[in-house]
Amino acid sequence: MDIMQLMRDRYSCRGFTDEHVGEAELASILEAGRIAPSACNNQPWRFIVLQGAEGLAKVDGCTKCRYGAPVAVLVCFDKDASAKNPAVTPDYGWIDCGLAIMQMALEAKALGLDSCIVGAYDPSAARVALNIPENLVTYQFLMLGYAEKGPVRMHFDRRSMEEVVIHGGF
Ligand SMILES: Cc1cc2nc3c(=O)[nH]c(=O)nc-3n(C[C@H](O)[C@H](O)[C@H](O)COP(=O)(O)O)c2cc1C
Repeated sequence: MDIMQLMRDRYSCRGFTDEHVGEAELASILEAGRIAPSACNNQPWRFIVLQGAEGLAKVDGCTKCRYGAPVAVLVCFDKDASAKNPAVTPDYGWIDCGLAIMQMALEAKALGLDSCIVGAYDPSAARVALNIPENLVTYQFLMLGYAEKGPVRMHFDRRSMEEVVIHGGF
């Protein structure tokens, strides 16, 4: 699929069917995250994959925003990897994870799945439920599955080019 079309078609899905996500599709989505660019090539991300009744119950314990998705990936970063030398290079863990999650969302769309990035979760509850070690910072969930609901109005609500592009400085 044309990359521009893919980016236009991706939307935050807030209603999934319970259709199973195949292993090959999930592997390909995770691969898209794995190969994302990162500052100093630190690759600080770690992807905690949650599915099945037990895994999804843990997700539901820390967010109301699973939207019925059969798979949830909690993207985290290892601060020992993202901030190796803070005096020289800032900790880009948040940005690196943002790039990885976006690549995963786009690969999901390319495979016919939909996704929703979810920041509305309780990080403390996630840490306890998933036994996340202290060196990992939790970033966002990526909910994955097959769409039952299409995009909401916000998807179409974008600032104009005139507002976001500044040619030649202010
Ligand atoms: C960092 C981040 C956090 C988000 N957290 C949530 C969330 O907790 N719940 C939710 O329903 N959508 C969440 N979204 C989705 C945004 O609301 C959505 O991207 C925005 O409204 C544009 O709509 P679209 O993704 O359909 O184009 C999040 C998106 C980003 C990038």
